[in-house]
Amino acid sequence: MRLPKSPGWTIEIMMHRVRRAAAIVALFLSAAAPGKAEDIPIPHSSPSDGQPPSASLSRYADLVPVATNTTPAGNLAYPAVGDTTPAPSTASTGEGMALHPAPPGAGRDRPALWNSVNTSRKVVALTYDDGPHAKLTPQLLDILKRENVRATFFVLGSLVEAYPQIVQRMAAEGHEVANHTWDHPRLPSLSAEKLDRQIRETTAIIEKNTGQKVTIMRPTYGLYNERVKNDLLEKYRLDMILWSVDPNDWKKPGANTVARRLIEGAHPGAILLAHDIHPGTIQATPKAIAGLKAKGYEFVTVSELLAMDEAPTPTPTPTPAEVAKKNASGGASD
Ligand code: NI
Repeated sequence: MRLPKSPGWTIEIMMHRVRRAAAIVALFLSAAAPGKAEDIPIPHSSPSDGQPPSASLSRYADLVPVATNTTPAGNLAYPAVGDTTPAPSTASTGEGMALHPAPPGAGRDRPALWNSVNTSRKVVALTYDDGPHAKLTPQLLDILKRENVRATFFVLGSLVEAYPQIVQRMAAEGHEVANHTWDHPRLPSLSAEKLDRQIRETTAIIEKNTGQKVTIMRPTYGLYNERVKNDLLEKYRLDMILWSVDPNDWKKPGANTVARRLIEGAHPGAILLAHDIHPGTIQATPKAIAGLKAKGYEFVTVSELLAMDEAPTPTPTPTPAEVAKKNASGGASD
């Protein structure tokens, strides 16, 4: 297939190739050097502050590392590194704009894996993982209320059980509450039975406390394999939500840096990753919101964002001249 020669495409393809090559090297090293668990890429933190389990890396040989790019993905929703499936299936937005909460499957045929959404509208979804946190999450909710911004919280079922009032408040104030497993395990290492409990029990406790139907989830560490992905999409009918902007807030780079990365990384349809378990992230939020509003962005929940997904631009049909040139050169490499 011949690709259009625009700088954006070229950079995107090069970045994808670099990430793919890095993933292959990482997988090779993991097979060659079991036990170096500290080398596992951790895209974001866990409740234990990003410390990976000490188990041998060989257990995770089937992991699919997520794309951890901080480069804006433009309007392209692209699959994670190592994922050979095509970009998320797309569907038209349908008649009118769905308001919160979007009915399950609104405007979409079936669940999919998302890094971002294809839209020309200046909208982003602010997402917070790994909470609720007893002190920080209420502070964040105060900020969001003051700024009139709605966000999406990927919560742990165990923490919903501990702090049900905070989750009830999230829903009452218009935020979306979504599944981030019961206690943050690495999904590819789980049996089907354990995965089932992580997903179903978390969804159940969220729905009980919010009255919202849970239709989206985020895999812990952004990690999944084909088996997990198939179960999440087909068996549990959940959209898998990754991200297109990662400020690496779990590394505690300072509130100003977190805010700047969110603002500079934003693009139409972006999914912004953050964690409401770090004080710096809470401090960064008012600055990030101010900067994003100044750039003209509006804030929607993830389900609302998915409902805005537009059909992708069809791949241009090669001209006869391009076909002839391709044939003459022995075909394209990709
Ligand atoms: Ni997490």
